[in-house]
Amino acid sequence: MMNDKPALKLKRLQEMTVKGKRALVRVDYNVPMKGAKIEDNARIRETLKTLEHLINEGAKIVLIAHLGRPKGKPEPKYSLKPVAAELGRLLKKPVAFAEDCVGPAAEKAVAALKPGDVLLLENLRFHAEEEANDAAFAKALAKNGDLFIQDAFGALHRAHASTAGVTKHLPGAIGFLVQRELEFLDRVIGNPQRPFLAIIGGAKVSDKLAVLEKLCERVDSLLIGGAMAYTFLAAQGINIGKSLLEKDQIDAAKAIIEKAYNKKVECLLPADHVTVKEIKADAETKVTQAMSIPPDMIGVDIGPHTIEFFQEHIAKAQTIFWNGPMGIFEMPAFAAGSEAVAKAMAEATGKGATTIVGGGTASPSSRRPASPAR
Ligand code: 3PG
Repeated sequence: MMNDKPALKLKRLQEMTVKGKRALVRVDYNVPMKGAKIEDNARIRETLKTLEHLINEGAKIVLIAHLGRPKGKPEPKYSLKPVAAELGRLLKKPVAFAEDCVGPAAEKAVAALKPGDVLLLENLRFHAEEEANDAAFAKALAKNGDLFIQDAFGALHRAHASTAGVTKHLPGAIGFLVQRELEFLDRVIGNPQRPFLAIIGGAKVSDKLAVLEKLCERVDSLLIGGAMAYTFLAAQGINIGKSLLEKDQIDAAKAIIEKAYNKKVECLLPADHVTVKEIKADAETKVTQAMSIPPDMIGVDIGPHTIEFFQEHIAKAQTIFWNGPMGIFEMPAFAAGSEAVAKAMAEATGKGATTIVGGGTASPSSRRPASPAR
């Protein structure tokens, strides 16, 4: 269970006086949607503790969030309006909604708030300035609050106007969700039960470089899968056929392998692969008999032998961190590797290991939750 000590030297919500103040709260309401229907409200539910505290303390609550990747202009399918309705249902009180997150519409709705009221502003990403961390936009957002509460755990890694820029203008604190997750990660990763295993996948080495470097300092074993494994294999001089290769990351991949070696971290790459001639859902698949991939083939998932030794490692570990899929899991024919890792993680959890899964995943309609699960 969480202890009550702050994991990091960050001000916590409970240390702030919020009564009568306009609390600008950054939440991660990037929920999976099917049309206007929310498929999973977990991310909304996770913010309730922070919101109930603010309501009980008599703050005027102004929520800011993003949904999907609308490319800097309004797109009705990415409106947060259905989220306001769902939040109202969960809080059992009306939640107001403003059609814009800055400017007159937002300012008018904020001015109408009374202590304990809740307002959700429209999708931040309807403005290109949000992702650009534009200074003027951050200032305009900050006009909607007297203080800033960061509770968007799934968006903390983004240096956007609503997560980074805005903090320059308002006194800030972290909400209960961010506190819970940071304290958990600090305890588990700072003082892990061993063996500590990390499984890293996904498409790009460049996206994961910083995390790979940090993990080399803490884990006992590092398993690399997904498309980024092909760049690691290429860095070892192994043929990867027509698989995804980040040529400019070959040196970085070599450096990770070297760092792992120097830190005595076991670093394992896939030993076999599911391959296709063309990436399409019904493509004919061939499993390689070795680490190398024939010149005309594309790797799309880890192979059965790799699955087996990944499972063996997961079963032996006491702390397991997983980020990134093992293959193109969106196509069922190439999802076996990711599914096998997920099942092995669930079994390990059942046997008492601590398992952490991180990372956002794309779905055709929207984005799925990224908060660590355990
Ligand atoms: C997520 O779902 O991963 C977070 O909400 C961040 O979304 P983003 O990857 O579109 O920035």
